[in-house]
Amino acid sequence: MSASRLVATKLSQLRALCTVAAAEVISEPRKPMRLYQKLAALGGTGGSVSSTLNEHVMEGNEAKKNDLLRIAHGLMRIRRPDHALQVIEWMENRKMSLSSANIAFCLELISKVKGVAEAENYFQNLPASAKTKFTYSTLLYCYCSNGMEEKALSLFKEMEESTLHYNDLMVLYLIVGKLEKIPGLVEEMKQKNISLNAFSYKLWMQSYARQNDTEGVERVYHETLENDAALCDWTVCSNLAAHYIKAGLDEKAESALKKLESVMDSTNREAFHYLMTMYTNLSNATEVHRLWDSLKAAFKITTNTSYQVMLTCLRRLKDLGGMKRVFEEWDSKCTGYDGRLVRTVIYAYLEHDRLEEAEDLFKEASKKVSKPFLRGMELFIIYFLKKGQVDRCVEFLEAAVSISKNEKWTPHFSTISGFRTHFEGNGDVETAQKLFSLLKEVDSLKATAYHLLLKAYAAAGKTDPELPRMLEEDGIKINSELEELLQEVCHCNVSSY
Ligand SMILES: *[C@@H]1O[C@H](CO)[C@@H](O)[C@H](O)[C@H]1NC(C)=O
Ligand SMILES: *[C@@H]1O[C@H](CO)[C@@H](O)[C@H](O)[C@H]1NC(C)=O
Ligand SMILES: *[C@@H]1O[C@H](CO)[C@@H](O)[C@H](O)[C@H]1NC(C)=O
Ligand SMILES: *[C@@H]1O[C@H](CO)[C@@H](O)[C@H](O)[C@H]1NC(C)=O
Ligand SMILES: *[C@@H]1O[C@H](CO)[C@@H](O)[C@H](O)[C@H]1NC(C)=O
Ligand SMILES: *[C@@H]1O[C@H](CO)[C@@H](O)[C@H](O)[C@H]1NC(C)=O
Repeated sequence: MSASRLVATKLSQLRALCTVAAAEVISEPRKPMRLYQKLAALGGTGGSVSSTLNEHVMEGNEAKKNDLLRIAHGLMRIRRPDHALQVIEWMENRKMSLSSANIAFCLELISKVKGVAEAENYFQNLPASAKTKFTYSTLLYCYCSNGMEEKALSLFKEMEESTLHYNDLMVLYLIVGKLEKIPGLVEEMKQKNISLNAFSYKLWMQSYARQNDTEGVERVYHETLENDAALCDWTVCSNLAAHYIKAGLDEKAESALKKLESVMDSTNREAFHYLMTMYTNLSNATEVHRLWDSLKAAFKITTNTSYQVMLTCLRRLKDLGGMKRVFEEWDSKCTGYDGRLVRTVIYAYLEHDRLEEAEDLFKEASKKVSKPFLRGMELFIIYFLKKGQVDRCVEFLEAAVSISKNEKWTPHFSTISGFRTHFEGNGDVETAQKLFSLLKEVDSLKATAYHLLLKAYAAAGKTDPELPRMLEEDGIKINSELEELLQEVCHCNVSSY
C-alpha cells in the first residue's frame, strides 16, 4: 500500500503503512499462477505450505525465486502473513539467497505472525551485511506500529535521519496518543532540512484533528499549500474534509470536497468512491447522484465495487427506490453474480422491515449465485433473532447448517456479533440452547456456540456443571474470556482438568 493512499483517521490504516512495500515494490502474481492459487486456497483447507511446495517440485515443476517472492507478497496481500512467512522459510531452508529488501519483508512477516520479540531476535542474528537501511527501517516500523516507544526512539538514534523514519515516529505518537510530540518532530525536520512529504503533512494534520483542533488542522493544510501545492493531493483534501464532517462544519466540508474534486485525477475510482461516501455523510443526495453519473461517464466499465459503493450510499440515504433502480441496472448488465451487492440490498430491505422484498430477492439470488447463498441466509438469521421470531431464525439456521456439511461456512463477523449482542444481555436461555445445538454442528462455529451459550447462561444466572466436560470432549481451546465465563457459570476451576 502506498503512503499516498492513506486517507482516513483509523489507526488500523496507519498500521497498514508498510515501509518495506515503499522501499521495494514487488508486484502481485501477474498471471493467475497455479501454485499461487493452490497456496491461496490453503487458508480454507488447512493444508501445509511446505508440503504443497514440495509436491509442486516433486511433480517436476520449477520453483523460481522471483515467483516464490511474488507469491509470498500475494499471500500477504490477501492477509495470510503466516503462509507468506512459510514460503520464505521454505526458501531459506533451500538456501535460496535473499536480498536485504526480501529479508526485511521476512522480518515484517515474523513480527506479524510471531510477534515483535521474535522479529527483534531475527534482526539481531542477521549477518552484518543484512543489517541495511531496509531491515533497520522495518524494525523501526515494527516498533512504531506496536507503540513501543523506548525501543523505537533508541533505534531511531542509530539510524540515518530521513522523512520515512520521521513519519514512522509520527505514526508511533498517534498510536500511543502522545499527540503533543508530533509538532515538535515536524519542527525538528524543518531545522534539519528534512523535507516533509504528503504523508508527513497528513500525519501532522491528524495530530490536530484528533484533538478537535480545527485551527491546527487548517494551519497545516495552508502550510502544505504554501510549501508545495503539488503535495496537496486528494488524500490531503480528504483528511481535511473528514475532519470538517466530524466536527459538524458542513459548509467547510463541502468546500474541501470541491477542492478534492478539483485536484483528483479523473481516472481515480477510489477518489470518486470517497466523494460519494462523504456526501452521503453530509446527507447530500444531489451530489451523490451527480458523482455517480460522472463516475459512470469517466470509465468504460462500472465495476462491482463502484456499484457496491453506490448501493451503500443509497441505503444510508434511505433512498430504497433509487437503490432498487441501481441494483436492477447492475443485475441486467452483470455477467457473474456478486453476492456482496445482493447482500447490501437485502440488508437495506430488512432494515426497513420490507421482508417480502428481501425474501423475493434472496430467492432469486439463490438461483443465480454459483454456491449456496450462505451470506444471504445469515442476514435473515440475525434479522429474525432480533425480531424474536425464533422459528424463522431456526428455519434459516437449519438450512445453513445442513449446507455446511458439504460447504465450509465461516459467517461474516457482523453475524457473529449479531448473535453476541442478542445473548449478552438478555438471558434467553431457551433460544440460546436451541441455537447452540445447531451451531455446534458447524466446525468453524463450535467455539462460538459455547461462547454464546455461556453468555446467555451468565446473563440468566444459570449454572451447568456439565459444561467444562462438554468443552473438553469437543476439544475447545479455553481462552481467557471463556475461562472467565466458565468460572462465572460453573463455579469451577477450569485449569484443573
Ligand atoms: C536544504 O535542502 C535543499 C534541497 O534538499 C537544499 O537546496 C538547501 O540548500 C538545503 N538548505 C540547507 C540550509 O541546508
Ligand atoms: C473530540 O470530539 C469528539 C466528539 O465531538 C469527542 O468524543 C472527543 O472526546 C473530543 N476529543 C478531544 C481531545 O477533545
Ligand atoms: C460517515 O458516516 C459513517 C456512518 O455513519 C461513520 O462511520 C463515519 O465515521 C462518518 N465519517 C466521517 C468522516 O464523519
Ligand atoms: C449539496 O452540495 C452542493 C455542493 O457543495 C451544495 O451546493 C448544495 O447546497 C448541497 N445540498 C444540500 C441539500 O446540502
Ligand atoms: C462482478 O462480479 C462477478 C462475480 O464475482 C464477476 O463475474 C464479474 O466479472 C464482475 N464484474 C465486473 C464488472 O467486475
Ligand atoms: C485452580 O487450580 C490450580 C491447580 O489445581 C491452582 O494452581 C489455582 O490456584 C486454582 N485457581 C483457582 C481460581 O482456584
